[in-house]
Amino acid sequence: MTTTLELSWQRLARQAEGLLSVSTDRVANAANLSALIYQEMPDISWVGFYFLRGEALVLGPFQGKPACVNIAMGKGVCGTAAASGKTIRVADVDSFDGHIACDADSRSELVVPLSKNNSLLGVLDIDSTRLDRFSREDEKGVEELAGVYLSSII
Ligand code: SME
Repeated sequence: MTTTLELSWQRLARQAEGLLSVSTDRVANAANLSALIYQEMPDISWVGFYFLRGEALVLGPFQGKPACVNIAMGKGVCGTAAASGKTIRVADVDSFDGHIACDADSRSELVVPLSKNNSLLGVLDIDSTRLDRFSREDEKGVEELAGVYLSSII
């Protein structure tokens, strides 16, 4: 049975492939992928990119409220995902030691690291004001979208 909260990740991945196929520019494609996720994923409050610039993560294209600009490697959920190279799904941000609250209303978070040719580019970050918003399926789906993004850019 399909509920309103379930997304067709397959359909969204194919949509993303089409949307990102017109450019190989990492900023343009990050902007359009953020917009697509924001439109299609229910109950999220923020989605966007942080790109590695030197030693830190710097805010890239996003949808939602204005956000923190600089995040040090190893700090917050984003910096931890970037440093470990592993996706982090946080059911309750208050229980994540060092969570950076750009938006005080944020309750759960999903961060997928982005690497191309063994080199870290940044992270894709999604926030929700709902506790435990992100399922294992969401995690796999967003990782697939991250893969579509990485294949689309030079
Ligand atoms: N909460 C993140 C910071 C980025 S914002 O959510 C947009 C973190 O702890 O890294």
